[in-house]
Amino acid sequence: DTLGKTITCLAAIAWKTNSSLSLEEVQVEPPKAGEGRIKMISTGICGSDDHAIKGIIPLKYPFIPGHEGAGIVESIGEGVSSVKPGDKVLTLIVPQCRECSACLNPKGNFCEKQDILPSSGLMLDGTSRFTCKGEKIYHSFRTSTFSEYTVVPEISVVKIDAAAPMDKICVISCEVPTGYGAAVHSAKVTPGSTCVVFGLGGIGSAIVMGCKAFGASRIIGVDINEEKFPRARALGVTDCLNPSNLKKPVQEAVKEMTGIGVDFAFEAIGLAETMVAAWDSCHVSHGVCIIIGVSPPNSKFSLSAQTVSTGRTLKGVCLGDYKTKDCFPQLVTAYLQNKINIDPLITHQLPFDQLHKAFELYHAGKTIRCVLLF
Ligand code: APR
Ligand code: ZN
Repeated sequence: DTLGKTITCLAAIAWKTNSSLSLEEVQVEPPKAGEGRIKMISTGICGSDDHAIKGIIPLKYPFIPGHEGAGIVESIGEGVSSVKPGDKVLTLIVPQCRECSACLNPKGNFCEKQDILPSSGLMLDGTSRFTCKGEKIYHSFRTSTFSEYTVVPEISVVKIDAAAPMDKICVISCEVPTGYGAAVHSAKVTPGSTCVVFGLGGIGSAIVMGCKAFGASRIIGVDINEEKFPRARALGVTDCLNPSNLKKPVQEAVKEMTGIGVDFAFEAIGLAETMVAAWDSCHVSHGVCIIIGVSPPNSKFSLSAQTVSTGRTLKGVCLGDYKTKDCFPQLVTAYLQNKINIDPLITHQLPFDQLHKAFELYHAGKTIRCVLLF
C-alpha cells in the first residue's frame, strides 16, 4: 500500500539544457491538498517536450518532462473532489481553474494558473514533489508525465470515460485538441474551403484530419521532410510542398495554386519565418491564419502592415481553444463513439524504458506520435 507514502519509481530527468534525458530512480511524495498522485499508463512525445528539453520553452533544471499523459489516480490530497483513486484521467498542460479571468471568459482557455510561459517548475504552493539522489527535481508544466508516478494539481487533471483505451488515449491530452481542435473548433473550417498546413508532424497531421473532416476541398501540406508526405496524403492532404525544393517563397507557390490564397492557414512548426509564410498564404479578404507552433522566447516576426487592413485574421490557438477540463472528456467520448479517429495519429508505441530509442526516432523525423507505455 502506497497511500500517504513516498513512492520510489523510474522517471526521465533533463539535468541540463539540450542534454539527453536520463532514466533515474526518483522519489515521488504523496499529493498535498488540492493535488492527485497519478500512476502513468501512457504518454506521448510532443514537439513541446522537445522544445522544453532544448530550452526553446525555458524551464528550470533539472526537471521531469512530459505533458501528454493518461493514467490512473493512485491517491488524492485533501479537498480534491473531481477525481478519486482508481479513476482514469488525462493530464492537462493548460489547467482550468474556473476562477481566473481566462477561465471566466467564454472564449479562450489559457488559464492564469498555467505553468508554461513562464514556468516555475513547482506546484501551486511553490514546492516540488520530486527528488532524485537527494536533489530537488522540478516539474514541467505541472504534469511531468515521463515518470511512472507523478503529482499534479486537481486543476491539471481530468477524469475520462472508464472505457477509454489507456495505451492510446493520451493523445487526446494534447495532439488531438491542439491540431484537430484548431481546425474544427477554432478555425471552424468550412465545406469546400482551401487550407494550407505548415508542418506535417503530430500536430499538423491532426490539423489535416480536422480540415478533411469539415469538408475542405483542398489541403496543401508543407514540410521540409518529404518522408511525411505519404502519410499526410493518406490523411487528406491533396498537394505537398517542400519549401527547400521551390525556386520561390512557399507562400507564392500557395497563392499560385489557389489563385489568390487559402481560406485557412495553419502553422504547426514554431518558427517566425513559417508564421509569416502562413499569413502571406491567406486570402487577402477573409483568410484566417492560425498560429499553433510555440516559438523561441526572443523570436519576433514582422508583417507588411498593408496586408493586415484588408480583412485577414491572425489568431493564436492553444489546445484548440478548448476549456480543457470541460472539453477533453467530451473528446474522449467522441472517440469512443467513433466520431473522431485518433489511431492514424499514433505511429509508434514503445515501453517507457526505451525512451531513448523513441527520441531517436522522433529526431530522425520517423514518428508522427510515439506513445510510451508504462
Ligand atoms: N519548414 C517546414 N516544415 C518544417 C520546418 C520548416 N522550416 N522545420 C520543421 N518542419 C517540420 C518537421 O519536419 C516536422 O514534420 O515541422 C514538423 C514538426 O512536427 P513535430 O516535430 O512532430 O512537432 P509537433 O508535435 O507536431 O509540434 C509542432 O506545435 O505544439 C507545438 O510546440 C509544438 O511548436 C511545436 C509545434
Ligand atoms: Zn503537447
